Amino acid sequence: MSRCPRTARCLPAAAAVLVFALLPPVLAQDAARPAAGPTSGERYKNIQVLKDLPADQLHDAMTYMAASMGGNCQTCHVRGADGEFAYEKDDNDHKTSARTMIQMVRAINMQHFKGEDRVTCATCHQARREPSPVGPLSQPLTPDQLAALAERAAGRQGGAPPASPQAGAAPAGRAAQRPTETVDEVLDKYAAALGGRDALAKLTSRVRRGTLTNRAGQSSPVAIEETPAGLIRVTVGATPGIVRAADGTSAWTQSGDRVRRLDHVETANAGLQADMSLGLRLKEQYSALAVRAYERVNGKAVVVVEGRRPAAAETFYFDRATGLLVRRSARLNTPLGPLPVQIDYDDYRPADGVLTPFEVRVTDWESVSAQRFGDVTHNQPIDAARFAPPAAR
Ligand code: HEC
Ligand code: HEC
Repeated sequence: MSRCPRTARCLPAAAAVLVFALLPPVLAQDAARPAAGPTSGERYKNIQVLKDLPADQLHDAMTYMAASMGGNCQTCHVRGADGEFAYEKDDNDHKTSARTMIQMVRAINMQHFKGEDRVTCATCHQARREPSPVGPLSQPLTPDQLAALAERAAGRQGGAPPASPQAGAAPAGRAAQRPTETVDEVLDKYAAALGGRDALAKLTSRVRRGTLTNRAGQSSPVAIEETPAGLIRVTVGATPGIVRAADGTSAWTQSGDRVRRLDHVETANAGLQADMSLGLRLKEQYSALAVRAYERVNGKAVVVVEGRRPAAAETFYFDRATGLLVRRSARLNTPLGPLPVQIDYDDYRPADGVLTPFEVRVTDWESVSAQRFGDVTHNQPIDAARFAPPAAR
């Protein structure tokens, strides 16, 4: 596979170390961007339009452009004679087009959207090299959309107020009935459904083992070790496997003997998956929590709660019948636009006095991993060194 972040160190080591040295423990993924520090223009060799962008955010901007175009670093960058990327070179037309596009997007937002980032690369590209001028074909409604339509019609007949003045035109899936629960009620029900806050507070670690199936349908063994403080280590494949871990101050990945520090957006993504304390601490971890709507997810009626972290905006979908979390949908900030991550939870089963989802499906901008666990163990001590980057050992 040629995608550079998987196989090579893409940024100078000093850049990565600086980024992570500035992050406070535990909430590394939430750290505000350091205001000081070099700009991209100062740090890199050939920056013409992103000159003022803090240097530690350049890699996130690159990840975003690659994802928006459905490509990777190689879409725009050439390799030197040594086979390594020569990022400063302008020998790929896509790189020079991208510069023009960044300027075009800035101009559109300045002229038409009061300088807010309303139009992004993804607005047009939708993971295609060349955006299509033709709109999409009509699609049959999904069972969830049909159910939502029926609920909306029933709500109108019953005289319930529409969810918004445009309720009739709202996307299928948003039901008309206004939620009556408060955030606290939804979170209390969730914690109770998992086994109660006392039982959750007793957990000191969780290890899940099972099988991960990727986008191509290939399956590998997976082991996920984590602590309530958000430390996580994911190992995919048999010995030694590909490891991705976050120790609170940094996040890294190792494949063979290559170790790479993760950038902001990848660190935030790794952090999202450390979710064993969500039932207990969701309210501490997110701000601006609000109950938004009733919707349907995978055939289940859900109540939708939105919240924010400095690095991301997130939507939670709780099963209205059981109280359990069935989906999270996050938008991770990059300088050029948000990147999506969706996590679906299913097949909750009891293990050590709490319920744990035995099926977790993580879909992000570049991968799908459907995880099916066979074995979940709590409260076994995990050596802190397992979360630290190998170089620091
Ligand atoms: C859509 C095209 C595009 C993609 C995809 C892309 N880049 Fe870039 N990259 C650019 C452009 C354009 C610049 C120069 C920006 C400027 O002039 O302000 C650049 C500059 C860079 C630089 C600075 C080089 C220097 O010293 O001047 C690095 C490092 C870099 N990219 C890394 C990456 C990595 C890593 C990836 C894959 C995650 C990637 N890029 C994907 C378009 C792209
Ligand atoms: C308003 C819609 C729109 C937005 C926003 C937009 N693009 Fe484009 N882009 C296009 C169109 C249309 C083309 C195809 C041009 C052509 O066919 O010559 C294109 C072509 C490109 C190409 C050349 C691809 C090729 O195969 O020739 C690159 C690279 C590119 N865009 C990058 C970006 C990046 C990076 C962003 C965000 C900074 C962006 N675009 C935002 C509409 C857009």
